Amino acid sequence: MDNQNLKGQSAIVTGADSGIGKGVALALAQAGAKLLVNYFHNLQAANEVVSQIIDEGGEAIAYQADVSKEHDVQRMFAHHLDVFGSMDILVNNAGLQKDAKFVDMSLDDWNTVIGTNLTGQFLCSREAAKIFIQQGIRKGISKAAGKIICMSSVHEVIPWAGHVNYAASKGGISLFMKSIAQELAPQKIRVVGIGPGAIQTPINRDAWESPEALTKLLTLIPYNRIGQPEDIGKLAAWLASDEADYITGTTIFADGGMTLYPGFADNG
Ligand code: NAI
Ligand code: BGC
Repeated sequence: MDNQNLKGQSAIVTGADSGIGKGVALALAQAGAKLLVNYFHNLQAANEVVSQIIDEGGEAIAYQADVSKEHDVQRMFAHHLDVFGSMDILVNNAGLQKDAKFVDMSLDDWNTVIGTNLTGQFLCSREAAKIFIQQGIRKGISKAAGKIICMSSVHEVIPWAGHVNYAASKGGISLFMKSIAQELAPQKIRVVGIGPGAIQTPINRDAWESPEALTKLLTLIPYNRIGQPEDIGKLAAWLASDEADYITGTTIFADGGMTLYPGFADNG
């Protein structure tokens, strides 16, 4: 733990039992933040993240909530305040894919993806904003009254055939994030997006598990490596810190160049 620039702060990271959320929770804890590790189904995985944080000298609890359910979300934020007394950082990370060809996509799969990826960010951000506004700036702890980080994707700008529910949710996150950033800036609340490229997690296992799939995936990544959850964790910890105090209302892409139209490198 060399850089403790989130010391004295506490955070909720949704979907923190797996993949990017786990990487973000560990990075925030390493920077000194106390963590509520939200999980949906996998208590054991959440407990492992909590144990790792505690073993490294941090403080954390696991908490079950479905981010698409208003009551679950309200219960989670109330629990966070009961345990930690205040709150400084929300990372809206929970998300999922339900892929299908457009003409075969069921309304259920559309609603599940929008409900989790987009409505989930609305419900969590609203609770966080209420707390941050009531709390105000905690002098000596952070320059902002609160920080909200929205996990978006390169697919907030790259269209994605076969994944229209997912791409629509991420495109929605972009203007959701910018609009609340505009509304909440006068109250000294910063809202930022992170747009990861392909990060090696369970969500995209099919795209990296076999050597053939990985080779095909790498043609989309000029930097020629798949991303790791730590790549996103370090960025989230920095964005949450006062080092990034003048950053609000924008998405930072961490994608090894995936948004650089790699197909044009020797064409067009
Ligand atoms: P993952 O599948 O490892 O993790 C997703 C997490 O969200 C899991 O913990 C899951 O339980 C949780 N979750 C799903 N529905 C939930 C609900 N209703 N309530 C609470 N938690 C719920 O996948 P990964 O890759 O770590 O994804 C995390 C975020 O990063 C997602 O928003 C995803 O869209 C985004 N992302 C992932 C990229 C990748 O290449 N892995 C790239 C760009 C964005
Ligand atoms: C998706 C992954 C995909 C990545 C790059 C993410 O938003 O969840 O499945 O590998 O974008 O296309």
